[in-house]
Amino acid sequence: MPFIVFEGLDGSGKSTLMQSLSQELKSQNLPVTTTREPGGTPLGEQIRNLLLKNGKDAPTAWTELFLYEACRRQNVDHVIRPSLEKGHWVLCDRFWASTSAFQSGGRNLDEDKVLQINQWATDGLNPDLWVYMDLPLEEAQKRWENRTSFHPLDRFEMEKLSFHEKVRDYYNKMTKSQKYGPWLVLNATQSTETLVRELIQELKKRAWL
Ligand code: TMP
Repeated sequence: MPFIVFEGLDGSGKSTLMQSLSQELKSQNLPVTTTREPGGTPLGEQIRNLLLKNGKDAPTAWTELFLYEACRRQNVDHVIRPSLEKGHWVLCDRFWASTSAFQSGGRNLDEDKVLQINQWATDGLNPDLWVYMDLPLEEAQKRWENRTSFHPLDRFEMEKLSFHEKVRDYYNKMTKSQKYGPWLVLNATQSTETLVRELIQELKKRAWL
């Protein structure tokens, strides 16, 4: 069964789209497992809290990278591979492309080293499709500002605009290169209904539905 990953800037709507697809698949009685990174397992969720909290003892860029990768390996070994082996569709909110975009793009870590470590962490497992929610930075920023009335910004949302610009540029580079694909790029300013429709069209085109 397909393994599909949802990627994009914070606030791009990837989690909402993933949940909508999950509901659609379940309504067709298809077995589906959803997971996320960082997180997805009890240990991974604890690492997530360490990664996202604001505070004095922030990890260095490399420490941050290894925490994401540790989280990922736990998710691959305990959730993603076992679910694929059981014949489930697996939908994952972020995967190694986030590490390339945020840690290579945003934090300037060496891209080949990061790619290599990504492959170690996934044990060579790659998604059948990456879905990229393409959102202009100004729109993402507006969404974060609206959200602050509900909950405080996390360590990444607090980063400077130049950091998020570098992340977005790196995503653009990846979505345009066969090396990282296959990608489905969606215009994330559209309504959830339109996005779900476009995604399902793609899944049908691939004869997965
Ligand atoms: P989320 O809010 O989409 O769950 O993601 C949490 C944050 O972690 C988000 O700002 C992106 C960041 N992140 C990385 O920097 N590297 C990674 O490998 C992953 C998976 C997420």
